Amino acid sequence: MTIKSICCLGAGYVGGPTMAMIAAKCPDIQVTVADMNEKRIAAWNSDTLPVYEPGLDAVVASALGRNLHFTTDIRSAIAAADLIFVSVGTPTKSYGIGAGRAADLRYIESAARLIAEVSEGHKIIVEKSTIPVKTATAIKAILAANSPNGATFQVLSNPEFLAEGTAVEDLEFPDRILIGGEVTLEGTAAVEALASVYARWIPRERILTTNLWSSELSKLVANAFLAQRISSINSISALCEATGADVDEVSRAIGMDSRIGPKFLKASVGFGGSCFQKDILNLVYLCDSFNLPKVAKYWAQVVQLNDWQKSRFVEKIVRTLYNTVNGKRIGILGFAFKKDTNDTRESPAIHVCRDLLNERAHLAIYDPRVSKETIHEDLIYAGVSPELIASNVEFCADPYAAANGAHALATLTEWDEFRTLDLPRLYELMFKPAFIFDGRAVLPSAALKAHGFDAFVIGKGA
Ligand code: NAD
Ligand code: UGA
Repeated sequence: MTIKSICCLGAGYVGGPTMAMIAAKCPDIQVTVADMNEKRIAAWNSDTLPVYEPGLDAVVASALGRNLHFTTDIRSAIAAADLIFVSVGTPTKSYGIGAGRAADLRYIESAARLIAEVSEGHKIIVEKSTIPVKTATAIKAILAANSPNGATFQVLSNPEFLAEGTAVEDLEFPDRILIGGEVTLEGTAAVEALASVYARWIPRERILTTNLWSSELSKLVANAFLAQRISSINSISALCEATGADVDEVSRAIGMDSRIGPKFLKASVGFGGSCFQKDILNLVYLCDSFNLPKVAKYWAQVVQLNDWQKSRFVEKIVRTLYNTVNGKRIGILGFAFKKDTNDTRESPAIHVCRDLLNERAHLAIYDPRVSKETIHEDLIYAGVSPELIASNVEFCADPYAAANGAHALATLTEWDEFRTLDLPRLYELMFKPAFIFDGRAVLPSAALKAHGFDAFVIGKGA
């Protein structure tokens, strides 16, 4: 089966960039990204994309209108496609059975029902969203039971491993592409049809094929292992602070062991992002559901340590500022969950800002890519009252405005521009002692001290 027309349900952080790359690399395939969110679709069709990613504008521009289309007409997009990616959200369930841990699969289910209703002939359905292992069984059952036009389907799993901030590079040169399918003649043909799309630009040896369940599970496990490394090094950051060891030196020393490797050993105020926490909680829930409580407890600890890391950072600020931040101005440098993205989902900054506001601090927040509206919404969602935001939060246009009259600065995102801040200027603007809490170890720590700051850097002893 040769793929001529692709549709993707969900024009979010995954659907948009992933489909833009496929369209750019396969000019002969029509790629339509469909979403009911009109504002998002309009933004994809404009000069201001809804997702900030270095290099993404050029990829989208190279194919938009040629073979890349963004639309709210979901039904027509499904009807015209040979292959349909499902890239809708799978957030943590906030109600009922499994609340706070299980994945909420309502968007997956409604997408499957719509595909069944609209489709004719034969189509390949691809799970691109991150889902619990065995979800393909549910999708297959829904498709089989609800197809008035007698359509037939093959369901594949093709999880996405891109990281935000490096999405374009990750999509162009992925470590691997994983495709899971049924071990039948039809299943193998569908896997090959999808593999041959990726093979246009990705070497065959990097395209890994497995059974459906291995593919679905591998995605959760990959995120769990990555997050586990961060919690591991963050746990050591606390020990470094207590002993005078330097966590960056420890990371370097252990990372040079080729069995450990150097990546994902950067201590921080905590990991954020829409997926690590959600996917580990989902894994924990699955383990419990399969009656493996010891395995569940093991992985739950990765999230607990992360929560502790965020809380202890706030505690450090409050204790250092003479046990009260009430009425004190604290400049917040960075709100995104990592650099080079405008995404703030589960950003540690939300947790830190909420707790500082509960201590009645005045926050002066600066982020180069995150809008005032997003920060406002995030704080409200985190439970901060609109009155407290109105009285105690200021949105700043640059780091110096945030530092003006501040008792302390806290770095919560590792934006590159923070590496080259004018330290004498910052110092001049702040109350003395001028405290800095570097939650990303991004500022030049020796220079901070040389310029008179009272600096705390995550994972560095006094
Ligand atoms: P997102 O919230 O940015 O986008 C999801 C989009 O799906 C929304 O715009 C929503 O309106 C749309 N949608 C919901 N139901 C729909 C339907 N029936 N038809 C069409 N559109 C529909 O989410 P995201 O960050 O792109 O993540 C999507 C999935 O990919 C999740 O399962 C996530 O775990 C996974 N994932 C995300 C990343 C990442 O970096 N964000 C990386 C790998 C995997
Ligand atoms: C992560 C994975 O890296 C992707 O492979 C995966 O596809 C994606 O989740 C997903 O499923 O959504 P992402 O969350 O976009 O990607 O970004 P990461 O680079 O993994 O960073 C996650 C968080 O960990 C950020 O807050 C980052 O600052 C933090 N981090 C990362 C550290 O604190 N230390 C590190 O060494 C690395």
